[in-house]
Amino acid sequence: MTITFVGHGYVGLVTASVFADLGNKVWVIGHTPEKIENLKKGIIPIYEPGLEEIVKRNVVAGRLNFTLEYEPAVAESDIVFIAVGTPSTKTGDADLRAVLDVAGEIGKNLKSYTVVATKSTVPAGTNVKIRKIIEEVKPKNIEFDYASVPEFLREGQGLSDTLHPDRIVIGTESKKAQDLLVELHKVIGAPFILTDFDTAELIKYAANSFLALKISYANAIAKLSELAGADGLKVLEGIGMDKRIGDKFLSPGPGYGGSCFPKDVKALISIAKDYDYDFGMLTETEQVNSQAKRDIVRKLRRSLPDLRGKTVSILGLAFKPDTDDMRDAPAIDIIELLQKDGAVIKAYDPQATENAKKVLKNVEYEKNAYDAVKDADAVVIMTEWNEFKELDLDKLKSLMKAPCMIDARNVYDAGHVKSLGFDYMGVGR
Ligand SMILES: NC(=O)c1ccc[n+]([C@@H]2O[C@H](COP(=O)([O-])OP(=O)(O)OC[C@H]3O[C@@H](n4cnc5c(N)ncnc54)[C@H](O)[C@@H]3O)[C@@H](O)[C@H]2O)c1
Repeated sequence: MTITFVGHGYVGLVTASVFADLGNKVWVIGHTPEKIENLKKGIIPIYEPGLEEIVKRNVVAGRLNFTLEYEPAVAESDIVFIAVGTPSTKTGDADLRAVLDVAGEIGKNLKSYTVVATKSTVPAGTNVKIRKIIEEVKPKNIEFDYASVPEFLREGQGLSDTLHPDRIVIGTESKKAQDLLVELHKVIGAPFILTDFDTAELIKYAANSFLALKISYANAIAKLSELAGADGLKVLEGIGMDKRIGDKFLSPGPGYGGSCFPKDVKALISIAKDYDYDFGMLTETEQVNSQAKRDIVRKLRRSLPDLRGKTVSILGLAFKPDTDDMRDAPAIDIIELLQKDGAVIKAYDPQATENAKKVLKNVEYEKNAYDAVKDADAVVIMTEWNEFKELDLDKLKSLMKAPCMIDARNVYDAGHVKSLGFDYMGVGR
């Protein structure tokens, strides 16, 4: 099959490469000349484990093609996927400008029957807007069908999630479009949820908001455990072993972040408002999330009541390991809170430093964890990168001015770190 992806971010580039690797001819349309030129040489604009190799392999094989133009990509394609960003607007709604612009461009370039499918996360009802735009601009005699095919991959595990998803959701009201999309995806062997447009769109927001809610629940239980003198990690382990609950997304920490959960929770609250439904459960989810970030700073203040002029070393900036994505990373808020208190920040992240530089000012970025803790009054572990799990803690301690550690991800065994002489605080214990 020949397919097109518009957008080459964490979703577009990963899914395009996997479908090329599965033997399809794939076009990827972008709008930044420099990035497209690099992609043609196999140089990718994001960090995702294993992605560069699969892009290179498929470019060389001629299955993966990058372009700035909609022609001939759209005309040649059986299916065109929209995979551009849908960030939050100031009011918390999803910003659909890129999706709607792209829909118009696709519409103008249709030359024969094509399925246009949205992978971007869009509110229920967006399908009506997209279909209307395409209908208005497409050549009169050309037919198209629309589908909503939301994406569920996780950054850092994007390739394996695309090849082994828990389910594939296809929302369309056309049997012909459904058959084509099933044909493309069936080699993956995951269960299909075949449904209508609005349901498919809502499934994505409902899934992400539930995961965010689960993280906030874990943070609330961790907080209560700290206050009650209980071991929050054991409490969460105890509930996670119940199969009805499950042990995933029950790790307490500095709150959820990243390019999806914060914006999707906001968008679902806003979607509910449009129907006069007050989704208070999600507003509370957001509040617990902000509190989880503030709690990290509060913990630090317990050891260092006056942060003015104190050097705080931050290990890990990305919102999670194995990505360079800094969008809504909890480290941003925490660093800004510490800077407001007068702290001097040194930081190290294995992949996210360049993206961090774009959003965080007055930070001394270091090349490794040991340089980052040199002469620090405290260290905060913000991202559970594997390399932090293997640090030589004796060396770390000897380099610091004072051995204070806030382990926002519970990377270390508390007893062990304390036995080395650290003033150590994790989350929930
Ligand atoms: N990142 C994730 O883990 C993830 C997972 C599931 C779903 N999603 C959803 O998928 C969508 C894309 O997310 P992402 O993380 O890949 O975003 P991203 O910011 O990494 O990528 C967006 C891409 O769209 C391109 N783009 C924007 N406007 C364009 C235009 N007018 N023409 C052509 N290209 C344009 C950008 O250049 C970029 O390549 C979002 O709606 C997001 O919510 C993301």
